[in-house]
Amino acid sequence: MADTWTTLEVESAEPCATDVVVITLVDPDGAALPAWAPGAHIDVDLGAGFLRQYSLCGDPGDPGRWRIAVLREAAGRGGSQRVHDLVRAGGKLPVRGPRNHFPLVDADRYLFIAGGIGITPILPMVRRAAAQGRPWTALYGGRSRNSMAFVDELRAVPGGDLAVVPQDEFGLLDLPAALGAPTERTAIYCCGPEPLIAAVERESAHWSPGALHRERFTAAPVTTEGGAFEVVLQRSGLRLEVPEHESLLDIIENAGVAVENSCRAGICGTCLVRVTSGEPDHHDDVLSDDERERGEVMLPCVSRARGELLVLDL
Ligand SMILES: Cc1cc2nc3c(=O)[nH]c(=O)nc-3n(C[C@H](O)[C@H](O)[C@H](O)COP(=O)(O)OP(=O)(O)OC[C@H]3O[C@@H](n4cnc5c(N)ncnc54)[C@H](O)[C@@H]3O)c2cc1C
Ligand code: FES
Repeated sequence: MADTWTTLEVESAEPCATDVVVITLVDPDGAALPAWAPGAHIDVDLGAGFLRQYSLCGDPGDPGRWRIAVLREAAGRGGSQRVHDLVRAGGKLPVRGPRNHFPLVDADRYLFIAGGIGITPILPMVRRAAAQGRPWTALYGGRSRNSMAFVDELRAVPGGDLAVVPQDEFGLLDLPAALGAPTERTAIYCCGPEPLIAAVERESAHWSPGALHRERFTAAPVTTEGGAFEVVLQRSGLRLEVPEHESLLDIIENAGVAVENSCRAGICGTCLVRVTSGEPDHHDDVLSDDERERGEVMLPCVSRARGELLVLDL
């Protein structure tokens, strides 16, 4: 089902923190939903051209329902606003997935760092680490206590070390203390607003390569600019120029070839295309190091070509 759309029923849609609604989805006929692992997200079609991603934050062991939680983004283009205004218990929601660009790797111990709504993929990870008996520490920051979803559920997870840090009471998360001394075989998982992710990247720079895993909900500043190149769209039989100041996705779309997309910023994975030949110059935040090295797929909303020619399976 990862690549096909299906319509699920909204079992419940309830506020769970200031500006956060938690939604449970079930199959209308009671069928089991596809399995997922912590870190997975689904695509949700919110109508009017709004396609958005939401992390699954319920229990992966319950095939009967999926749970997502959505923050109302006042500064956004309107997708989260539609969730808050239109999604109601008993209604229907077209979804696709799950997909996972943020899987929990095997490690001896875990350090989880979440900011605001970034708690959604982290919560099932904390539960998984606890269920496996691995030592875990979780730092959870938010603007204020009322704005922080799932605090009680986190407190109920046994065995770890949880710090709940509302900024208006305690200030920012103490990252230098948490990340100052690297520990072996520890995986750091971070999800939250861009300034938090940037700070964690900075403070963990002296950890071993690959220790930090992060997922962005909003794009870091990206540039789609780079050298000019040519792209051949194999199935469409088109050869196109990609000038240095234009994105590959824009050029493909302008030629009349549709590529499904959502964020146009290299963070959601929706525009993934297969590379037939040529070497991609990856600028996204989705592909793993292995996938980048193999060069078999790319995200044309932000990525380009290293050489003069790229051939895509489009
Ligand atoms: C893998 C993944 C998982 C996600 N999981 C969750 C989740 O569990 N819960 C959740 O609430 N959200 C999640 N998101 C984010 C979600 O998909 C939406 O982006 C979010 O709901 C906001 O949608 P929107 O249309 O309201 O705002 P968007 O238009 O998507 O904007 C989001 C933010 O980006 C900035 N922005 C938007 N447009 C511009 C622009 N033109 N210029 C500069 N800045 C801009 C603004 O700061 C805005 O607040 C996830 C995203 C990804 C990629
Ligand atoms: S559209 Fe989201 S990664 Fe390209």
